[in-house]
Amino acid sequence: MKLKTSLFSRRKFLNGLLAGGLGSLAASVLFPLLRSVIPPYKEPDEVRLPGADYDGMEPGEVRSFAWDIKPAFLKKNGDGSLTAFVGVCTHLDCNVTYLAAEKKFFCACHDGWYDDEGRNVAGPPPAPLRRLTVAVEGTEIVVRKESPA
Ligand code: FES
Repeated sequence: MKLKTSLFSRRKFLNGLLAGGLGSLAASVLFPLLRSVIPPYKEPDEVRLPGADYDGMEPGEVRSFAWDIKPAFLKKNGDGSLTAFVGVCTHLDCNVTYLAAEKKFFCACHDGWYDDEGRNVAGPPPAPLRRLTVAVEGTEIVVRKESPA
């Protein structure tokens, strides 16, 4: 069935097309300008966690903490030492979660998997989870960026 009148006039359609094109052009100019004005994200050098919050951890247990605005995980090893990972996938930077039942880290974005040592074991992640150094200083657990090798 043909409508007697069109819902869109040719003029409205062309105006919409022109507005979309101009909007895209403005965005492509403004985005680099804003990026140069707003400083890029700088991750913290260290995060201090209250040791009392992690006292009862069992060997093999993994708990999350905030690495500034990113998720991170603290794992108690069998020898009592602690290991920390940044919870950001090495594929395309999605956040990962720890699945305690599977003892693995999981990235839901593209079905990426890491073992409980942070090693990439399945899916597209090209590298292990980034490690952080952990030190117990007094009553605090101090997590720091691992210095580049
Ligand atoms: S971002 Fe994690 S698998 Fe792609």
